[in-house]
Amino acid sequence: MLFYEIPKSIFNDFLFICLAWLLQPVVCVEDCAIFPFLICGRAMLDTGKDFAFVTRYIRKLHGGSQAILAQANDGSFYVVKFFNNLQGKNLLFNESVGNELYRACGLSVPSWKPLLITDDFIERNKDCWMQAREGSLRPVSGLCFGSRFLGGTGIRLIEILPGTSLRRIRSQQSFWRAWLIDICARHADNRQAIFIEGCDGGLDAFFVDHGHLFGGPKGELQPHFRASRYLDQRIYHGVSSHLYRICLKDLRNLNVDKLWARIQGLPDDWKVKSGLDGFEQCLCRLSTSNLLENILDTMGDSLRRVQESKNDEERALPKQPGSVLCPGIPVPGLERDFAPKCHSCVARAQA
Ligand SMILES: Nc1ncnc2c1ncn2[C@@H]1O[C@H](COP(=O)(O)OP(=O)(O)OP(=O)(O)O)[C@@H](O)[C@H]1O
Ligand SMILES: [Mg+2]
Repeated sequence: MLFYEIPKSIFNDFLFICLAWLLQPVVCVEDCAIFPFLICGRAMLDTGKDFAFVTRYIRKLHGGSQAILAQANDGSFYVVKFFNNLQGKNLLFNESVGNELYRACGLSVPSWKPLLITDDFIERNKDCWMQAREGSLRPVSGLCFGSRFLGGTGIRLIEILPGTSLRRIRSQQSFWRAWLIDICARHADNRQAIFIEGCDGGLDAFFVDHGHLFGGPKGELQPHFRASRYLDQRIYHGVSSHLYRICLKDLRNLNVDKLWARIQGLPDDWKVKSGLDGFEQCLCRLSTSNLLENILDTMGDSLRRVQESKNDEERALPKQPGSVLCPGIPVPGLERDFAPKCHSCVARAQA
């Protein structure tokens, strides 16, 4: 009877606190305080995502956001980006929403998790502090963005591919779709991907670094459509009207409502207005077939022009014998025997 008189949210909080106290010995780690867990925990229940504590600092990673590699109390390793990073306050929104958007569009991304970083951890690991112009900048405690580290024992990660390896990529078309999504999402940086080499020599691409989506980490940029291309444009080789149709068909299946529901559940601090506006505009573009067709035409034209000017340059230059970076030129000894597909490394990385 009493249950009916208590508002549902208070009842949920009460239940959650009871559960948290009961589970405390299970979730408690060296440096974990129960109060941040209680405060942040409920917000994260709404996302349908669990979260973990950052427990072990490994090292700093290169890049403008000054991310770190760290281990969490779930045993996994994560690329961690801080709330008060120097790139901008939209960064965690962009990373999490970009990851969800890509996944919803059928593209491979590392799984992500909100990670709680405590004051105690930050004080004990001063190496993880960021470097600002004025000196060392202390990360704020609270929820950070954690992208599950794709590496691990027996997994070979590759970030920059020589031209001869491009044909080993299993789903090269996904770069085409990624560029289309990036244009719609006003991505202000080059598209970044990490490749996992399978047992058969095939390469699986995982798209990372979505911090510059939706007008960048400050949300104010209006990038040119070419800004978000993958740096090695040979990856877009083989544009065809068939590919256009596949791209459009895949995007027609995008479940916008489900995506919105996931975004609503992000921590309130991450939901910045310019990011939400950018995301809304992006979904609107992705749902407008005529616009998508125009963008695809523009992308195709732009690549054709690049290819033509390259051909002109190559015709004008004397031939370079045996250059391994020329696409399509077989280099003896580099051919691989493509055995039947083995996805075990990839499955491990995504799990
Ligand atoms: N999930 C992941 N698994 C493995 N490596 C990753 C993962 N996410 C990012 N990295 C790598 O970590 C480094 C930093 O990541 P990222 O590019 O996202 O940071 P950034 O600071 O935003 O960089 P930028 O200067 O491009 O904005 C890069 O070398 C990237 O390839
Ligand atoms: Mg980057």
